[in-house]
Amino acid sequence: MIKRLSSEVISKIASGQIASSPSNVLKELIENALDAKAREISIKIKDPFNFKVIDNGSGIPYKELPLTVERFTTSKIESLDDLLKINSYGFRGEALHAISQVSHLTIKSRFYRESTGGKLEVKAGKVLSTCPIPFSQGTSVSVNFLYFNVPVRKKSFNSREKQNMIKVIKTFALCRPDVTFKVNDTGYFATSLEERIKQLFGKEINFKKLSSDRFTILYSSESEEERKTISHIFVNRRPVFLPEIEKLLDELRIKNYILFIDVDPQEVDVNVTPTKDRVILKDNSIAEEIRKFLYPKTTLPAISVLRERKEINYETSIELLGTDGTVIIGYDREYYYFFDQHLIHERINYEELTNRLFSKEIPLQKLIPPLEIKASSEAKEKLRKFGIEFEQSGENLLVRAIPEILSIEDIKSIIDGVALESVAAVACRKAIKAGYRPVDFNDLKELFERYLKCQERETCPHGRPIYYRIKKTRIMRKLGRS
Ligand SMILES: Nc1ncnc2c1ncn2[C@@H]1O[C@H](COP(=O)(O)OP(=O)(O)OP(=O)(O)O)[C@@H](O)[C@H]1O
Ligand SMILES: [Mg+2]
Repeated sequence: MIKRLSSEVISKIASGQIASSPSNVLKELIENALDAKAREISIKIKDPFNFKVIDNGSGIPYKELPLTVERFTTSKIESLDDLLKINSYGFRGEALHAISQVSHLTIKSRFYRESTGGKLEVKAGKVLSTCPIPFSQGTSVSVNFLYFNVPVRKKSFNSREKQNMIKVIKTFALCRPDVTFKVNDTGYFATSLEERIKQLFGKEINFKKLSSDRFTILYSSESEEERKTISHIFVNRRPVFLPEIEKLLDELRIKNYILFIDVDPQEVDVNVTPTKDRVILKDNSIAEEIRKFLYPKTTLPAISVLRERKEINYETSIELLGTDGTVIIGYDREYYYFFDQHLIHERINYEELTNRLFSKEIPLQKLIPPLEIKASSEAKEKLRKFGIEFEQSGENLLVRAIPEILSIEDIKSIIDGVALESVAAVACRKAIKAGYRPVDFNDLKELFERYLKCQERETCPHGRPIYYRIKKTRIMRKLGRS
């Protein structure tokens, strides 16, 4: 039932610019159709100022039709409490009101429990008529002459706005593969997520999929300069911007991703901006969880890195061109390479320090009192390898001494087979900083040769990629050479 919100709730709602662009108006109408549990949404776009959204959802009770365009009237929430656990796209009761102020709006609908439908016509916020009509179950909302009474705003949109509208539809089609979307003559039929991705992006991208309790990510590191990257984040199936997670994925050089975060509605604050495209996740550990999932900390000597990129073929020799102090540039027959100079050195230091641990070259420091831990026989083997001294004490081990570059925390890392924080910290501290340019080109070559001897050449101890490479053929294409 549609009701007016109390002034207490109204004052808490981040309202404002809703009908700010045709694509935004379209987004609101699609969200309403999804909230009405539509299985099929059909969108007809004549141009950015004249379009229509038809759904087969629950419909609107005839008596409530005029309420839809009143401000702060909604059937989706009632109390302040509801505002804290929103599980619908809409909740402010503002969208249709805002749209009706700047267009000729016609809503036709039949509620699923009523036998006749109704039609409501509104122009610039004024209800012109409401009358019963025969109508199939669901709702059709026609927006015509959008911004007819705000010509300045109308002028600010050009033909590209239609592309933005298509983008909005594709975004919802992506997060709701369970719903059929029709756009003019194109149809995306209800299907699985994997099939929907193919419907939308074609078959050429190979996404990897990882899931945990709270998120699913489909991602690939391939970067096709010719093609726009795909980056979507959905929180509880709502398309959102989450700058901190976007930054994280960028750092991990994941070029294309579709990330679904699904958490209890109480864990998300949606009421942040009027456009409902920013959310605040109350538990900020999710970014760290995603990072760990994508790049589990590395073990030595070999690490497993979740990446599609193939390792450098070290049989081919890479010719170095030089460094600008930050990036070392080189090439082989197939690729141009860009190496992070600091990370190369950090990787070398890390492996050299670890090798010194393995060969027991590093002096020991006594632990007073000794540390008592539980360890399997496999774990004992690892501890021995890293030069850690211990003795059995009943079921447990008493660790008596550890190499002086290690800390107590590293003992657990050794057992878990992840990167040793203390060693990584020393390796980083001792590595040349960005901006350093070796005077002698031979120094650069020597550094690079030491790097080539490393067992792991793809990432630094924390999993950051050491290099980026680009196919020569791609550059040639850009330069118009075949
Ligand atoms: N396609 C639809 N099918 C069924 N009911 C609808 C549809 N569109 C709108 N309504 C009804 O009209 C009400 C007002 O819609 P409106 O979009 O203005 O507000 P809202 O969705 O509640 O909140 P918001 O402003 O955040 O979108 C909704 O609460 C809903 O009851
Ligand atoms: Mg709405």
